[in-house]
Amino acid sequence: MIPKSFIQDLLNRLDIVDVIERYVPLKKAGANYVACCPFHNEKSPSFTVSQSKQFYHCFGCGAHGTAIGFIMEHAGMGFVEAVEELARGVGLTVPHEQSSSPQHKVAPDLYELMQSATRYYREQLKKTPRAIEYLKGRGLSGEVAARFGIGYAPDDWQNLKSAVPNYQDASLVETGLVIEGEGKRYDRFRDRIMFPIINVRGQVIGFGGRVLDKGEPKYLNSPETTLFEKGHELYGLFQAQKAIRAQQRVIVVEGYMDVVALAQHGVDYAVATLGTATTPYHVQKLLRLCEQVVFCFDGDKAGQKAAWRALENALPQLQDGKRIGFLFLPEEHDPDTYIREFGSEAFEHEVENSLPLSGYLLRELTAQVDLKTQEGRSALLKHAQPLLTAIAAPTTALLLRKEVAALAGVEQAELEALWSIKPVVARRSAPQRARRANPSALRALLRCLVMQPELAQQLPPDWKGDGAEGAAIMALADWLNESADETSSAALIQHFRGTQHAPLLEAGQAEILHLGEDFNVGTEFADILQNLRREAIESELSELQAKGLDGMSAPERARYEVLSAQFRMLKAVRAASA
Ligand code: UTP
Ligand code: MN
Repeated sequence: MIPKSFIQDLLNRLDIVDVIERYVPLKKAGANYVACCPFHNEKSPSFTVSQSKQFYHCFGCGAHGTAIGFIMEHAGMGFVEAVEELARGVGLTVPHEQSSSPQHKVAPDLYELMQSATRYYREQLKKTPRAIEYLKGRGLSGEVAARFGIGYAPDDWQNLKSAVPNYQDASLVETGLVIEGEGKRYDRFRDRIMFPIINVRGQVIGFGGRVLDKGEPKYLNSPETTLFEKGHELYGLFQAQKAIRAQQRVIVVEGYMDVVALAQHGVDYAVATLGTATTPYHVQKLLRLCEQVVFCFDGDKAGQKAAWRALENALPQLQDGKRIGFLFLPEEHDPDTYIREFGSEAFEHEVENSLPLSGYLLRELTAQVDLKTQEGRSALLKHAQPLLTAIAAPTTALLLRKEVAALAGVEQAELEALWSIKPVVARRSAPQRARRANPSALRALLRCLVMQPELAQQLPPDWKGDGAEGAAIMALADWLNESADETSSAALIQHFRGTQHAPLLEAGQAEILHLGEDFNVGTEFADILQNLRREAIESELSELQAKGLDGMSAPERARYEVLSAQFRMLKAVRAASA
């Protein structure tokens, strides 16, 4: 856990304009900055950054957040990762409250060593016709090889001596570039085509090295180091990020060469897992970047197995409305050989027609059993249970349960009882109250509060508002009471990110981007509050009046007196200020 106060401190020290400018060139427009949105395709800029309020908003696609949110969205990082990245930039060290995972310190020079090695391997490739011929033979152009930083490690034991300042440096072993055995040091990678593995920040964190001829192992990879965690990284993501966002789709393949060959044929939105199964972390990362993930593994047995593992690990990460597909190639093919034989049009056609996750899941579940027998139907339910209950996305889970129930010949309710799933009942809406404050007034009030959150302190302590707007305002007031020192718009966005209130708060923040500099938020706030109060008094008064003085109970009559007095006073105040 990162302490909240640190997040606030970090947001205060950062300037969101500087942060975003590192990735997207911004243009000044009035009080704000604008750009073409990096999160969707557009020709005229609707991506707006407010320097005074420290948040961004896209009027085209609704992307919205603080500097932290931007780094998360743009680089597909998790919250902690994004905070660490930003903290590094301003020279802060992220304090971790207990229970956080062990933090490994990364000396910056490890990255530098990796960079030097990459440069060296690339230079060696240029000098080695045999390696160049190999890549040409696999259909690669120099341009694509350069885009992926592909290089060559010569057939010598201590190549890197000429690439780094000190071959004896312990950091070299730490990066996995050099192996130490019996007092001797030697390069891990020798006589191999080198594929640098690059993180989303563009830093080289590992390598995959392929033999040129026959030889074992075919691929040698960097070991897991402080820089490189296989289950978290995807080969090619750095190069593909932009295309993934533009296409709103990513293809996940098994091999380095698959990614590179697809890119060579213009399919530049593919990434590869690094000799490991697809992890939930991978899926989460990719679903943050785009709408659709298509797994395209080799057509062989191993590929089928990898696809099923990917499905299992994707289930907890599914989101309603986002799509996951599976593309099964003919048995003798992998994406590399397929696209080279049939071309990109045929490949993309296959991607278009990939099997949706639900279809694949049901196909596999039913393939294993004989639905004509009771035993078969019972086995179906048994196999389906762990898979379907792993799905958190409510609609997807519900639809699949319905289908499986139908296949097994049971009622959906019976299946849910069997699996101890609480049925989702349509939430009964709260009884409509007679007095419903004007939602546009509440919206305006909310807009004032997102502009200047500390105004919430002026709300009467027992203030209540109706509907989603009212709930958001009350939540905002609660938040302010709990952490009175965190009152910036950015802290507010960060706090409510992902909550039920976020959409309304974001809408309010988007609206304030259009307000002129002379807009007096304090006066506006007081006016709205007073109007709301007058409306509430009026409507309660008219309810009581409808009963007639004789129809009221004693407490009602007392209330009537109080309200009448308040009403007269408000009227007098208004007359005086008019
Ligand atoms: P494949 O054996 O399918 O190789 O391994 P490939 O991608 O088709 O490679 P080419 O076309 O023969 O060059 C798929 C992935 O599994 C990992 C690598 O990440 C590889 O890209 N792998 C494979 C290893 O790590 N070590 C190996 O010895 C083999
Ligand atoms: Mn291959």
